[in-house]
Amino acid sequence: MQIKKAVIPVAGWGTRSLPATKNVPKEMLPIFRKPIVQYIVEEGIGAGLTDVVFVTNQNKTIIEDHFDRNFLLEQLLERAGKNEMLEEVRRVAGLVNVIGVRQKEQLGLGHAVLTAREICKNEPFAVMLGDDLLFGINTGIGELLDVAHATGKAVVGVIEVPDDKVSKYGVIQGDDLGDGTYRVTSLVEKPSPEEAPSNLAIIGRYVLLPEIFDILEGQQAGVGGEIQLTDALQGLADRDKLLAVKLGGQRFDAGDWVEYLTANIYFALQDEELRDDLVKRLQELLSCSS
Ligand code: G1P
Repeated sequence: MQIKKAVIPVAGWGTRSLPATKNVPKEMLPIFRKPIVQYIVEEGIGAGLTDVVFVTNQNKTIIEDHFDRNFLLEQLLERAGKNEMLEEVRRVAGLVNVIGVRQKEQLGLGHAVLTAREICKNEPFAVMLGDDLLFGINTGIGELLDVAHATGKAVVGVIEVPDDKVSKYGVIQGDDLGDGTYRVTSLVEKPSPEEAPSNLAIIGRYVLLPEIFDILEGQQAGVGGEIQLTDALQGLADRDKLLAVKLGGQRFDAGDWVEYLTANIYFALQDEELRDDLVKRLQELLSCSS
């Protein structure tokens, strides 16, 4: 099976990041030099995906525009001789095939994925959530695609979280198959620490089989009154078609201010030109505030 499409739900309001996200989609907030969504798209491309399906609403068109040509800007950069920037702007526009579908009501993540049905049709596909930024080795959608290609099963990415954090996530129960892979037997969305079947929390990377759409069609609203993807995944687990893979590397939750700011610093520190000045300023700030 050749998997080409990444569904990226972007219709959410980003209430955790207000007021910054009142008129700017949360996916367009910058982390260092790039908007969040570009990191997600580049991760998908790096793993061999070629098409991105944005599940959008009317306030999110600038996300699609970011991956389109902007001839006025290109002309301006050309005339100004800013060739490096011109090249970069063109590179981003050529990164990926963009398909937009409108989610007319925000009824939950499961509903957002179902909205992409007409585009994904009978093909397996990836789902990537913009709040979860993954960097480094042994992480990202590529790890899940490898397992999906080898087994023909659906795969979710998981990380271990402490007890007091399980209620923020979907949590899996599974049989340990070794090498950080699990056969998923059950899942609970946003459990209390007492209800959580394990500490393995789903992070926003999935490879799904098209049969998830039929399951989602019949899915009742779950936690928070929303149609939950996690609940629908139980249907795949019941058919022994769901694996989980533990991801490594660095993970940042872009909807949490400490994590968002840390991600900015993480990238800025990797920039040789900025690193020394940034470290100096941070040290000054820390010595002032202590
Ligand atoms: C969603 C999923 C949840 C998953 C999380 C990962 O929740 O429903 O299962 O653990 O993403 O970020 P949300 O963060 O949208 O509430």
